[in-house]
Amino acid sequence: MTIESSGWSDDSTGSRLVDAGANEDDNTVEGALRPKSLDTFIGQQRVKDQLGLVLQAASARGRSADHVLLAGPPGLGKTTLSMIIAAELGMPLRVTSGPALQHAGDLAAVLSSLVPGEVLFLDEIHRMSRAAEEMLYLAMEDFRVDIIVGKGPGATAIPLELPPFTLVGATTRAGLLPGPLRDRFGFTAQMDFYDVDDIGAIVRRSAALLEVEISADAAGEIARRSRGTPRVANRLLRRVRDFAQVKGNGRIDMTMAQAALTLYEVDEIGLDRLDRAVLESLLTRFGGGPVGLSTLAVSVGEESETVETVCEPFLVRRGFLARTPRGRVATALAWSHLGMAVPIGAMGQLPMDLDLLDDVKSEQNAEGRT
Ligand SMILES: Nc1ncnc2c1ncn2[C@@H]1O[C@H](COP(=O)(O)OP(=O)(O)OP(=O)(O)O)[C@@H](O)[C@H]1O
Ligand SMILES: [Mg+2]
Repeated sequence: MTIESSGWSDDSTGSRLVDAGANEDDNTVEGALRPKSLDTFIGQQRVKDQLGLVLQAASARGRSADHVLLAGPPGLGKTTLSMIIAAELGMPLRVTSGPALQHAGDLAAVLSSLVPGEVLFLDEIHRMSRAAEEMLYLAMEDFRVDIIVGKGPGATAIPLELPPFTLVGATTRAGLLPGPLRDRFGFTAQMDFYDVDDIGAIVRRSAALLEVEISADAAGEIARRSRGTPRVANRLLRRVRDFAQVKGNGRIDMTMAQAALTLYEVDEIGLDRLDRAVLESLLTRFGGGPVGLSTLAVSVGEESETVETVCEPFLVRRGFLARTPRGRVATALAWSHLGMAVPIGAMGQLPMDLDLLDDVKSEQNAEGRT
């Protein structure tokens, strides 16, 4: 069991235990934990119902399904759902990603080699190049691409018919997608953070697949600290399993789960050491703010970008911190979570403040930066 000196890293890749993004360790084990059908996919009931209908209707018509856009924060199951879509349609799945399609030719090569009905998964679709994007418009709508041959005035466009296919796009930043691209999807699944019960069910399912015994209350405890994110839940489960193997008999009960998560410094609601360091500094050194991002970051010895992209989204979502035009401000909730007396006039005490917080939060959601 190693804990990096930086404190919040859980392995040699330097990523944090509660980071929703995937690290190498996750990539190797996630495959085994992915549900393979809509029925075994836990939570996201609305998305499941809607998607189920789209897929059933397509199968009944015997045609390829409408293009599907999966939008939502990292680690909520977009890649998993794309695999399920292909499996439910009984079609092969081709996987590519926005950054891999820097030239229109890259996309043309992929599209022209699809078999009829194939599902094309385009991850991080918001990072595709402009040229590829324009080619994709035509492909999605008319199942056709124009291959440009030659240069300058002599250049000609040779139309190339494509087999019908289903595009499944995934993005963590739906707000960055150009309107015309968004409009070409027949169905957009907006994925949201899971509630604790659903995450608890995911933890129990993953434990069964990993062949570890876990009590119901321990699964609930891990779920509460998982930030509503299946990837984080699976990662915490693996660390708790390690702990239970080394310190106990391998069985995870409430005491084991709590002791392990205390050791890894993930608190009761999923804040880790860096999150708490940021809050603590904001409260004790800057009296709760407002303070500029870079000053706050320096005070905890971190890069501004790390604090902004790694800590703040969750702190804002949980209502601990607000980003205001004058700087970062702690809310009453932050003071009480860290066990300090809430000063008079702290943000979040007046209904007016809560409205402001909502605004900030919905802005974040719209940007997909949760
Ligand atoms: N509904 C679910 N039920 C069970 N496990 C899930 C569910 N959703 C996600 N998972 C698990 O969480 C992990 C991460 O899911 P996935 O890779 O699909 O996320 P993602 O949305 O594609 O993330 P990213 O944006 O980083 O690509 C996987 O191991 C998967 O097994
Ligand atoms: Mg993914």
